[in-house]
Amino acid sequence: MKTVHEIKQIAERKGKLIYREGDKLYKTFDETYSKSSVLNEGLNQARIEETGLNIPKIVEVSVIHGRCAIIMEYIEGVTLEKLMQDNPEKEDEYLELFVDIQLDIHSRRSPLLTKFKDKMTDKIFKSDLDASTRYDLAFRWREMPDHNSVLHCDFNPSNVIITESGKAYILDWSHASQGNASADVAKTYLIFELDGKKNVAEKYLKLFCKKRGTSEEYVRKWIPLIAAAQLIKGKAENREILMNHVNSVE
Ligand SMILES: Nc1ncnc2c1ncn2[C@@H]1O[C@H](COP(=O)(O)OP(=O)(O)O)[C@@H](O)[C@H]1O
Ligand SMILES: [Mg+2]
Repeated sequence: MKTVHEIKQIAERKGKLIYREGDKLYKTFDETYSKSSVLNEGLNQARIEETGLNIPKIVEVSVIHGRCAIIMEYIEGVTLEKLMQDNPEKEDEYLELFVDIQLDIHSRRSPLLTKFKDKMTDKIFKSDLDASTRYDLAFRWREMPDHNSVLHCDFNPSNVIITESGKAYILDWSHASQGNASADVAKTYLIFELDGKKNVAEKYLKLFCKKRGTSEEYVRKWIPLIAAAQLIKGKAENREILMNHVNSVE
């Protein structure tokens, strides 16, 4: 006899509904998401699973009541975001863990993932910056050193779940790409800053550079380039912060 499980909503975002049924997590998308974008997220997640990183395993990609859905293992635990909110005194400890996880991601390779640089230059050409700035920034992107690390590209504490036994799972691979690790660090820096956590962004950047043995000056060079590519999303309240970074390029 089939067991009937209660359906529990986990999160709701613009165009997305995420719920749990039994031991499975359903990430479902409305019609504003193309089939190809959902399949791409599923494909990224499958590719990352093959790198051996600790992530929820995909069970199925399907269409349920007209909505595309990625069905994966449900991970019982608490996000690092919630842990940081609930235990502010442990911020340093959690940031250490956060950086260690990101270093592990960067140590992996997945040669078929999209190249981050190609994605970013494409976004810059689609931004509303004036033509000469677009050209200049795309040129700068092209000149930045290439690499082939796995990059999460949306690495932030809401995308890490810690289980009761302390094991970390990394979620949400929709933006995963391959490229230079410093670009991913610049992206995470901006996520913190745009979330109103500039001090955490600074602490995180310093910690990452210390652990990785990279100079801060080098990583900071990527921030305006990432900021320019973010302008395509064009959230009005973010524009000023992003433009300040873009204009900081000498
Ligand atoms: N496999 C999973 N197991 C448990 N919780 C999950 C899982 N996937 C997502 N979640 C929860 O849902 C939230 C949103 O999922 P996520 O894939 O990050 O969506 P989004 O793309 O909207 O950020 C996560 O922050 C986490 O709390
Ligand atoms: Mg997420």
